[in-house]
Amino acid sequence: MSNAENRQWCLAERPIGRPVKESDFSFEVAPVPKIGDGEFLVRTRYLSVAPVMRNYMIDGAGIEEPLAIGDVMRGRGVGEIVESNNADWPVGTFVQGKLGWQDYAVATGKPGSLMFPIRQKVAPIATGLGVLGMTGFTAYCSLKDIGQPKDGETVVVSGALGGVGNIAVQLARLMGCKVIGIAGSEEKCRLLEDKLGCHATINYKNGTLEEDLKRVAPNGVDIFFDNVGGSILDAVLLHLNRYARIICCGRISEYLNDEPYRLRNWGQVGHNRATMRGFFVYDYEPMFEEAERVMADWIAAGELTYQEDRLDGLEMMPTALMRLYEGKNVGKQIVHVSGDD
Ligand SMILES: NC(=O)c1ccc[n+]([C@@H]2O[C@H](COP(=O)([O-])OP(=O)(O)OC[C@H]3O[C@@H](n4cnc5c(N)ncnc54)[C@H](OP(=O)(O)O)[C@@H]3O)[C@@H](O)[C@H]2O)c1
Repeated sequence: MSNAENRQWCLAERPIGRPVKESDFSFEVAPVPKIGDGEFLVRTRYLSVAPVMRNYMIDGAGIEEPLAIGDVMRGRGVGEIVESNNADWPVGTFVQGKLGWQDYAVATGKPGSLMFPIRQKVAPIATGLGVLGMTGFTAYCSLKDIGQPKDGETVVVSGALGGVGNIAVQLARLMGCKVIGIAGSEEKCRLLEDKLGCHATINYKNGTLEEDLKRVAPNGVDIFFDNVGGSILDAVLLHLNRYARIICCGRISEYLNDEPYRLRNWGQVGHNRATMRGFFVYDYEPMFEEAERVMADWIAAGELTYQEDRLDGLEMMPTALMRLYEGKNVGKQIVHVSGDD
């Protein structure tokens, strides 16, 4: 490793009150870090981008600690252990964990560090960022614990062809529900119906969401899997059934706003005895093994597929992140950094 470099993307400027842009990041080259006792070195193969990353860049915007200017951008990745001083984490092990936007990361694998060996053998390792990583675990754990789907119920998923959304759609279908996907283009809606098994879809950019919901969900909504928040959440509230469950997974439509969206239809929650619950995937660590095993079995059986949107090269990380806010990604947005699988 002595001649190798560690290329890194660091935070250069905070995107306050505006979308993320490339100049918010600086591209640096550092030496490959040395490992100490109990540590191991991971060579990054793939990196994930997620809407929450803009929150990391802004003080006080998210659940996790904000980054300082100059810090390596935080994010999950999949990689291979290439050096190790830890017998539990031998060289050659593939892992998924908080690698950051860089070629090499040092880790300890201690409990709570959210570093996991990739156990499944049925799908490419890149799925450790999508369906068989935090993205898929988010869909699985929240749907099971908060959604509690029952056969024949109607489930609406917003951001339906995003990373989390495309898995939530399929899981709800596999759990016996009628699934309605909301997405931002006709192409995404076609894909959701033709490939992912949505019973109906709505292109929210047509501006007729409330009427469309009435048409495709005439019997109301039992579960709303919300990745988007804002006016889409407000519209779905008008269609809740009694005892409906709302999974507050994400609010990407509000992440760029200075002021939070003010819900007009909040009263429908009380009126319908509905449950609206926040969700944070890292609270569900005890369920991850089950989520990986169950979804890997469904993939092996050909019942669950996954949508990935892949860019090539570490230099593409800022572009990859910006694509999320522009609605350009179709499925889980990942970046291939090294290796040929
Ligand atoms: N709670 C947790 O633990 C947890 C874990 C993971 C993710 N999340 C959240 O879950 C959501 C989905 O995450 P993801 O990683 O799968 O991202 P993603 O859905 O792939 O995010 C990008 C998509 O969001 C949609 N979008 C962007 N701006 C929008 C807007 N103003 N209004 C409506 N839709 C918009 C776009 O699709 P369209 O073309 O359809 O507009 C875009 O393709 C995010 O809000 C994320 O923060 C939460």
